[in-house]
Order: sequence, then C-alpha cells, then structure tokens
Amino acid sequence: MSHVLSFEDGHVTAQEGETVLNALLRAGLDPAFSCKSGSCQTCMLQAERGDIPERAQRVLPMHLRRLRYFLPCRCVPTGAMQLRRPHPNDLVVGCQLCEASLLEDGRISLTFETGRPLKYRSGQRMRIVTGAEDEPVLTLTSCPERDLLVTGVLEAADALPLAPELQGTLGDEEIFGYPFELRGPFDDVPPRELPAPDADAALWDELGGDVKVRAVMEAFYAKVYADERLSPFFVKVTRERAIDKQFSFMKQCVTGEKIYMGDRPRNAHHWMIITHELFDHRRALMHDTLVEHGLGDTLIGRWTAYEEYFRPDIVKSAKLPRYLGDQMVASSGVTREVMGESGMCDQCQGEVAAGETVLLHHHMGTISCGRCSAASA
Ligand code: HEM
Ligand code: FES
Repeated sequence: MSHVLSFEDGHVTAQEGETVLNALLRAGLDPAFSCKSGSCQTCMLQAERGDIPERAQRVLPMHLRRLRYFLPCRCVPTGAMQLRRPHPNDLVVGCQLCEASLLEDGRISLTFETGRPLKYRSGQRMRIVTGAEDEPVLTLTSCPERDLLVTGVLEAADALPLAPELQGTLGDEEIFGYPFELRGPFDDVPPRELPAPDADAALWDELGGDVKVRAVMEAFYAKVYADERLSPFFVKVTRERAIDKQFSFMKQCVTGEKIYMGDRPRNAHHWMIITHELFDHRRALMHDTLVEHGLGDTLIGRWTAYEEYFRPDIVKSAKLPRYLGDQMVASSGVTREVMGESGMCDQCQGEVAAGETVLLHHHMGTISCGRCSAASA
C-alpha cells in the first residue's frame, strides 16, 4: 500500500516499506536529518493528521509523543499523513554551562554545550526554560560553522529570575557543567500564547457535560455551515472535524484537561480576515444555539467569556504569518503547480489529471484546474 504524505506546500506518495524521511528526501521536500537511524532526533516532525506507528515515537519523551511528534527515519507510514516541522516552542535542548560572564555593557554572556546537535544561525534567539510566561531570551552570538561551543547573551534584568549560575557573577569552578534547558531557536520570538482563562471543571457539568455540549456544537455548526457569511471559511473543512476540534478545544479551556490536539486560535485563523462585526455575528449564532439548548444567561455568559478571550487572536484586518518550524511563513498568494497525482478542482469539481498544471491558492489550500484558472485569469 502506498500512502500520501503532505509536508508544507508539497506532497509525496511513500512507496511500500519506505520511511517517511526517505520519501520526503526523494521528493526534494527538504526535511532536516542527520543519522537516519533514530538516535540524533534531528529529523523529528509533527503529524497533524494520520496514524503514527509506535516504533516511530518510542524514544521520544512523553510530552512530545502527546503532541504527535515522531521520528520520520523510523517511521514506515500505515496511512496518509499530514506533517509539519516542529514548533520551536516545543523544541527543548539540554545544555551544560562552560562560561558565564558579565559584559561591559551590563549584559550576560553564556557559553555552553548542547546535549544534541543544535541547528541555529547567529542572531537567532532562544528562551531559557523556566516555565514562566515570559521566559528570558538569549540571543545567539556564536557561529555554528566556526565555534564548537554555543554562546549567547541576555539582558541582566531578564536574568534576575534565573539561578545564580546563570547570572555571570560566580567563578568558573562554581558554574562549570551547570545544567539548564533552552527552547527554540526562533527567528523572531513570537509572543508566548497566554493560558486560556482559568479552568472551571464544575462549569462543564453545569453546561450539561459531554453529551449536551456536543449537541450544542452540532447545532451550532449546522447554523455556521448554512450561513452565507461564515460557510465560505469552511469549504475545506468537514463539519465533523470542525465539531470535534471546537468541542475538544472548549472542553480543554473549561475543564483544564489536556485533550485538544490542534492549532492555537492565532495560528488556526491566521489567514482569515475576520472583522469584529463578523466575530459578533458568530457570537450571536452561538448565543441562539445555547438558548435553544435551555441554557440561562449566567451560564451563557460564562461560556462566552472563554470564546471572547480569543477575540484578539482572531479578529484582524490583514493575514498574519503562520509559524512553521523556526520560520514565520506568510502563506498567501497563488502559484502554478503541477499535480503530483490526480485530484479534483475545488471550483468546478471536475477531475484533474496527474501532470496537469493548476493554480494553488496557498491560504485556502484550494486548487483551480486549467479551465477554471484560465477563465478567471
Ligand atoms: C468569526 C469567527 C470565526 C471563524 C470564521 C472561524 C473559522 C474557523 C475555520 C474555518 C476553522 C478551520 C481551520 C482549519 O481546519 O484549517 C477554524 C478552526 C478552529 N477555530 Fe475558529 N473561527 C471563528 C472563531 C473561533 C472562536 C471564537 C474560537 C474559540 C474560542 C475558535 C476556535 C477554533 C479552533 C480551536 C479551531 C481548530 C484549529 C485546528 O484545526 O487546529 N474559532 N475556525
Ligand atoms: S535522522 Fe537522526 S533521528 Fe532521524
């Protein structure tokens, strides 16, 4: 059996017995890799969709497995997969300190070894893992082609919450080998997503629990898919997927249980131009649905507070870049592409043969066949 692997803007059909890594390399899709045998973890990717064979995750820590990370060099796919590069927030590397000193300008310089090979460029940033919302930022100043050890600088004020070993004031013997962790690297440190409003597990029961909330979601998306202003956003999304994602996202927000797998709202809606007025329109549909399911004003208000919290991530007048791996990707515009396999035109629903040139609309991921794009050109 052969399986289609989608990765960034490309896709490839893996051949019988072929690993995901080899299939991506064969298609020229430029995955990162080094050992090809499961030990360096350089090739790690995240599966947005598709089954992950157990062997491909076995050596990864549990938090990465839960986030659906796996090693493509150990993965022979068992079905179609949609893949993406790791988000730098999820990439943590263990480090051992070699030098820490105060610079003349008051900043702190740290020189250290990393537990696995770190792929970085001078000038990129990393966050020192503390678990806080605003983890201190370290700007990398060494050069990977030249320096064996990694060096970075941080503002002294940012270092205040850190251990004394990282403050640049202790002697070499005291700090040598001190372990710490870094997250990244980032090209431009994105603002860390704030946690959702406080969980309130009792509220889920008061709303009627899983059965009732799912019924609300089903009724709400029936309205959304019939709505002439909202439905165009959902042309590529099945109603079942929208319901499942929204249900698990809201359940996670309300109960605090870590059950949601998917993009945070900022990334999920990055290409959608949504005005306050359209957001309010959706809110009104949700309000009607909650009323129809017998919920009173107080419960509706508590529910709405969770959704309102994400308004600043969703309402915007221009598309936002999406973070893919360590890069911000502006996924807009259209390009002409040759179809790798046959498919269906999203405009006329006609068949598109493999090898035919189509117009790919990046933000929606839709294609227009030669006939439709010629007509619209
Ligand atoms: C007018 C307002 C909104 C519109 C038009 C809209 C539209 C969409 C669309 C089209 C998707 C599917 C994206 C995809 O699968 O590629 C989506 C996903 C999602 N939306 Fe919204 N949305 C709106 C408001 C909200 C609000 C208020 C919330 C939550 C508080 C929310 C949470 C989500 C979540 C969790 C997903 C799933 C992300 C994923 O697939 O990984 N959305 N939305
Ligand atoms: S390339 Fe080293 S683990 Fe996959």
